[in-house]
Amino acid sequence: MSVISDVTVTVPATTANLGPGFDCIGAALTLYNEFKFTRTEENRLIINVTGTEAQQVPTNESNLLYQAFIKFYEHLEQMPPSVKIKIQLGVPLSRGLGSSATAIVGGLIAANQLAGAPLNELQLMELAIAIEGHPDNVVPALLGGCRLAATSGTGWEICDVPWHDDVVPIVAIPNFELSTQEARSVLPNEVSRADAIFNTAHLGLLLRGLETAKGEWLKAALQDKLHQPYRKNLIPGYDAVNIAAVTAGAYGMVISGAGPTLLALADAAHSTAVEAAMENAWQGEGITNVVRSLALDTQGATSSVHEG
Ligand code: HSE
Repeated sequence: MSVISDVTVTVPATTANLGPGFDCIGAALTLYNEFKFTRTEENRLIINVTGTEAQQVPTNESNLLYQAFIKFYEHLEQMPPSVKIKIQLGVPLSRGLGSSATAIVGGLIAANQLAGAPLNELQLMELAIAIEGHPDNVVPALLGGCRLAATSGTGWEICDVPWHDDVVPIVAIPNFELSTQEARSVLPNEVSRADAIFNTAHLGLLLRGLETAKGEWLKAALQDKLHQPYRKNLIPGYDAVNIAAVTAGAYGMVISGAGPTLLALADAAHSTAVEAAMENAWQGEGITNVVRSLALDTQGATSSVHEG
């Protein structure tokens, strides 16, 4: 019987929340991390990382990709094989673009492949959600597209959110990091009924706005009362970039995931102007940043294996 000798997994970046969909909606974007796991006879863990932020990634057992790999085998109550790992970073770290989710999904898929695929996609997804603690990055990272995740009582219901071709996601990525832990620590434990109603209505509007690209709906829909009013204070220049994006023709701007990346949505006719406006506005506030128009990734995580 042939044994899989190595597996390469490619996982997209994700933008979670999209304004009013705190902890329940996210979309996969065309920016990727690649992870290669190779079986080895060596007993010590070897992790090589390439990419502009490579030196910031731990190369010992605390590495999140490796942690997810180990959790898979703990779940199966099996011993993990010895592996060497290569990481090619394309998703910036701790910027609100789901870099942790790429690691969790990548580690689980690689482990599943090397183990002979005992878990199906749904089981992998549930494990990924349990590790991350919320579904809105790991679900689109695994499945691609824009996804809404809701607990069903016994598990998760996931639905595919239609995304109109003329809704362009534009990310402005600053040169500073913000940990999800810190960005969650500023949120209140309880919210008012008025704020809950506000977000319920706006999330519904967002779903229809994304599907139809109807400008008036999208403009109103990107508002939120549950997390952004608290988190924007952690992001210097937020107001200036927001005003610049909207003035240049964006439907609106939100915090990508837990931040600090800012995400604008615009139609294709305005995307170039919105890119320039966001970049200049943030530079004007003294924040070096990179702005890119991306597209929705529709494939999610992919993997290829070699036997030998
Ligand atoms: N929904 C999460 C949050 C995404 O906003 O905290 C961050 O990973």
